[in-house]
Amino acid sequence: MIKAVTGTKDTLPGEINKWKYLENIVHDVFSHFNYKEIRTPVFEETILFARGIGEETDIVGKEMYSFLDRSETNLTLKPEMTASVVRAYIEHSLGNQQPLNKLFYISPMFRQERPQAGRLRQFHQFGGEALGSTSPYLDAEMIQMSFHILKQLGLNDLTVKINTLGVPASREIYKQKLKSFLQDKKHLLSADSKKRFDTNILRIFDSKVDEDQQLLKEAPTLLEYLDDDSRNDFDLLMKAISSAGIPFEIDPKLVRGLDYYTKTTFEIISGKVGSQSALCGGGRYDLLIEELGGKPTPGVGFAAGIERILLACENEKSFTLPDDSLDLYIVKLDKELSNVIFDSASFFRRVNYTVDYDYLDRSVKAQMREANKMNARFVLFIGGDEFKSGFCNLKNMISGEQYQVPVNQLDQILNYFKNAS
Ligand code: HAM
Repeated sequence: MIKAVTGTKDTLPGEINKWKYLENIVHDVFSHFNYKEIRTPVFEETILFARGIGEETDIVGKEMYSFLDRSETNLTLKPEMTASVVRAYIEHSLGNQQPLNKLFYISPMFRQERPQAGRLRQFHQFGGEALGSTSPYLDAEMIQMSFHILKQLGLNDLTVKINTLGVPASREIYKQKLKSFLQDKKHLLSADSKKRFDTNILRIFDSKVDEDQQLLKEAPTLLEYLDDDSRNDFDLLMKAISSAGIPFEIDPKLVRGLDYYTKTTFEIISGKVGSQSALCGGGRYDLLIEELGGKPTPGVGFAAGIERILLACENEKSFTLPDDSLDLYIVKLDKELSNVIFDSASFFRRVNYTVDYDYLDRSVKAQMREANKMNARFVLFIGGDEFKSGFCNLKNMISGEQYQVPVNQLDQILNYFKNAS
């Protein structure tokens, strides 16, 4: 048997309603904040992500699905959307059309990570990006939108963590301080952290190894070395999200796994999904657009993992959806009436009712079982002596009432539908 590739998942009909429910909330919230949807290709030139996300990151170093196509172009299935959005922004000169572009997306992403609950190799993100302003109120808006979406899904066990990474100059000073703090403890670090000490020292904070975290307890924090501009923006951000009623924690260790961040970073964590607990993450990237060849333009955004959020919703039992139902199931009492059933179903479907019937020549009892399974509101029986005298029988499955209807006046049934709803 050929199976789905490890770390990928089919979304079966029974799960689709949950996805649609979430997607509708996402569309609603983004449209209330006046964000416009953007769709970009599933693959891009590898250089875009290598340059955008950073060569030293885990995503670029270990997790990308990269391949040479038949014309030897190095391509990558997108592991995240920010670099793609920025590429499209530059390519289509969106900044010339309006000074601030507020964009959102829902899209599959690909990372070759070790699969586990809440971690897949093809997963889906929704997210927003605002390109063109340094206003910390946009940073606040990102936190507000993501928090809002999660709350509308009924999630409660949420922690909002925020931090600021400052600008490169202040960060450089801090990195030197951190380096001197860790220098004589370097031999005690895990192998991964030892590597990061030389390549990307801030990422040591991401280490899951207890000993590393112990060593970092006394480490100086970025906040102590922050430049005035970043501190001011951070204060405004905190004020804004407080007045929006969003509880948050400052986490000076929140450095995030992508290299493009400047100033704000944030994550929203669920207490209900185990170790892969970040439902969403984001931050400001004021240098990325220039880095990728555009005019210097600030940006800020976030992305959220849909599978992880739905797992949190399931674990919190945060919402229930009504079962699918049918307006009408037509029961065929005589096999030779298939064409009449077909025409009747066509009539109701044309006027936008949801109708189904039996295609497998099953017994009347089996057809009734099917009607019940599909939660049919009405069942129409066609056939038998009644049909010969020009009538069929309609049953309201909720009240149990039955009505006789002339076969050539099926439009009468529409009144029963309307009166019942
Ligand atoms: P990220 O933190 O790499 O950020 O991913 C955002 C979210 O995607 C995570 O919090 C998680 O919910 C979900 N996610 C990531 N990897 C996986 C996986 N392997 N399986 C399931 N879910 C996953 C970004 O992608 C940035 N582009 C966010 C951003 C936008 N920053 C600024 N603008």
